Amino acid sequence: MAELSKITTLTLKQKKEQGQPITVLTAYDYPGAQLVDEAGIDIILVGDSLAMTVLGHPNTVSVTMDEMLHHCKAVARGASRAFLVGDMPFMSYQINRDEAVRNAGRFIQEAGMEAVKLEGGREVLSTVQAIVQAGIPVMGHIGLTPQSATKLGGYKVQGKTAQAARQLLDDALALQQAGCFSIVLEAVPAPVAQAISQQLTIPTIGIGAGPGCDGQVLVFHDVLGLFDRFTPKFVKQYGQLRQPILDALTAYRQEVEAGLFPTEAHSFAIDEEELEIFLYGGQA
Ligand code: KIV
Repeated sequence: MAELSKITTLTLKQKKEQGQPITVLTAYDYPGAQLVDEAGIDIILVGDSLAMTVLGHPNTVSVTMDEMLHHCKAVARGASRAFLVGDMPFMSYQINRDEAVRNAGRFIQEAGMEAVKLEGGREVLSTVQAIVQAGIPVMGHIGLTPQSATKLGGYKVQGKTAQAARQLLDDALALQQAGCFSIVLEAVPAPVAQAISQQLTIPTIGIGAGPGCDGQVLVFHDVLGLFDRFTPKFVKQYGQLRQPILDALTAYRQEVEAGLFPTEAHSFAIDEEELEIFLYGGQA
């Protein structure tokens, strides 16, 4: 039975200390947030993955601050227990620190989020520090960082050499020192992610980073089998909802076309007398 009390950064820290896995899923709208919250998931991440899963873009860099805030607001209305993290979109925190703090503040003040996530290692340290100093919890994100996939040469596993793994560890330690409450490790070899998790006092959340992380995150549409463009190796589908949804929508179209819907059961009646007046002006 899932714990019912509100999840905070303190709960997450305690879970790591007690060796209890942290669960994270993305959600992008009100019904999705309601379902994820009711399932007892600890953190809802309104990920910039919504650019692809919801808005149909080919990558994550196209989504804007205003679009992110719009979706965050809907998620905040649907969730009551989970800890809410808004993903800072590409170019909302890279230009300068003031702009980064202002944009992070909009996630909290306007959109009902409780923390923000941003991608990058030591190159974003001063930005992380400035946002944390403004009183906003920050989740880091290292390894495969989709916003800079072009610079990384594509969507590739990171930290595969001893030197690259060491750099990831140094990034993680620096982000922890800068005040992050948690760090996402994406597409990192499992033993590297485990070693990083063991060296940090803050929880790591893995995606394609093996079972040695303190928590796991997956994308809502991947878990439910709703995103059909591609399925990364690290995804496990816990449902295949695309076909049942397609079947239901097709059945609706067929019934309307065949005159089988709506029936009396789905229609409203009117008093006989009122109908007569309406139809014949009471002069039948
Ligand atoms: O945008 C997103 O959904 C993410 C997760 C995959 C970590 O960043």
